[in-house]
Amino acid sequence: MKLAVLKERKSGETRVAATPETVKKLIAGGHAVHVETGAGTGAGIKDADFKAAGAHIAKTAASALKGADALLCVNRPAASVLATLKKGAAIIGLLSPHDDPDFVRACAARGIDVFAMEFIPRISRAQSMDALSSQSNLAGYRAVIEAAELYHRALPMMMTAAGTVAPARTFVMGAGVAGLQAIATARRLGAIVTATDVRPAAKEQVASLGAKFVAVEDDEFKAAETAGGYAKPMSAEYQKKQAKLIAGHIAKQDIVITTALIPGRPAPRLIDEAMVRSMPEGAVIIDMAAERGGNCALTQAGKVIEKHGVTIAGFTNLPARLGAATTALYARNLLNFLPLLAGEAGEYAPHWDDEIVTGANLARGGKITNEAFAAKAAPAKKPAAKTTPAKKTATKKAAAAKPAAKKAPAKKAAAKKTTAKKPAAKTPARKRAAKPKPKEG
Ligand code: NAI
Repeated sequence: MKLAVLKERKSGETRVAATPETVKKLIAGGHAVHVETGAGTGAGIKDADFKAAGAHIAKTAASALKGADALLCVNRPAASVLATLKKGAAIIGLLSPHDDPDFVRACAARGIDVFAMEFIPRISRAQSMDALSSQSNLAGYRAVIEAAELYHRALPMMMTAAGTVAPARTFVMGAGVAGLQAIATARRLGAIVTATDVRPAAKEQVASLGAKFVAVEDDEFKAAETAGGYAKPMSAEYQKKQAKLIAGHIAKQDIVITTALIPGRPAPRLIDEAMVRSMPEGAVIIDMAAERGGNCALTQAGKVIEKHGVTIAGFTNLPARLGAATTALYARNLLNFLPLLAGEAGEYAPHWDDEIVTGANLARGGKITNEAFAAKAAPAKKPAAKTTPAKKTATKKAAAAKPAAKKAPAKKAAAKKTTAKKPAAKTPARKRAAKPKPKEG
């Protein structure tokens, strides 16, 4: 295959889809790699490094794309890229297709095959291709480092001759890949860590990292995990109970890292303004769900703001904030996926009988292949002029039923127990002034 690697155009992006290490291995696998000049700059990789590994350095994106069988990318490419790729080529990347269903439609219309790395099934065999995990893992680590930077105090307890500095109370909301790494990092830095999730499997994982689990553990919680290991959207009733529990807990936290996500949906809203107001002066919230609407109501995507004495960071691309490391892992994820798209002679020949390939595939040979996605991307149909009122109603109902069928049924949750005791309603928020202020330097 002729593989193209471009400089990522997304603002703030530092990652790139290949490294000299993966280029070497791709070439050894029978491929040619064409890298746009400057593509590796953000990740600390020079053109000369790519060249030494055997890549061809292309002066422009268009020349890298010319005749390419596949584009390896980090983010969804621009329309101009689609226009330049040849018919029958493939795009492989972290494409966030839910954010732009038109993208898949446009690819299908041009006969371009689409593989979304985030859709690779999370089965054991595909672990080395799991870009969601590799990027979330490092992002979770980085979230704690960002929090430590924005928090004007220490994370560990500091006992000095001049007095003691209390450890930072850190609460991680959502204990998936990013959350678990955030817990581990905050623990390593000496913070007192608690965490919450709606999936029961998370409870043991949180405990194994030495953090305390805080959650509403009712019947709905016990059934909140999908077969794929993801969280289901929770009922309004559950969310109410969860908010009540969190409200009491959050008022005592110095650092909150939110990572809660539900695939293909806006991020669940877990922190409202009153909760922010209740937090200690100088507290920090890192909202890792900022790009999906945020777990905190006050988050502004892409900005670090201060509200009610609390710093709220809405970083939208934490993996890009440690681009050299995330690039190294992401490029390997692609390298490990590529053999499933290649024939014996290295030609583009996807293994269509492999569930990893079909799982990641969104468009093939001019058709949208992902069912959920095809429904989303379908252009709105104009009602036929002569449709009778009865027919119209039926059509509407069918249309409404389609997306609803995708939704997990809202379950009526019976309140049972919580792992964390609710603090008494009058517990005052631990105010910053109560803590000894460490000296600068
Ligand atoms: P994610 O990024 O989709 O979501 C982050 C976390 O938010 C999840 O743990 C989710 O349960 C939680 N969440 C959602 N709604 C919430 C709410 N209202 N309140 C609190 N928390 C909420 O998840 P991620 O990190 O991609 O992991 C999902 C699952 O996949 C995990 O069980 C993980 O262990 C599993 N996994 C399995 C792999 C494998 O078998 N190869 C590889 C990586 C992850």
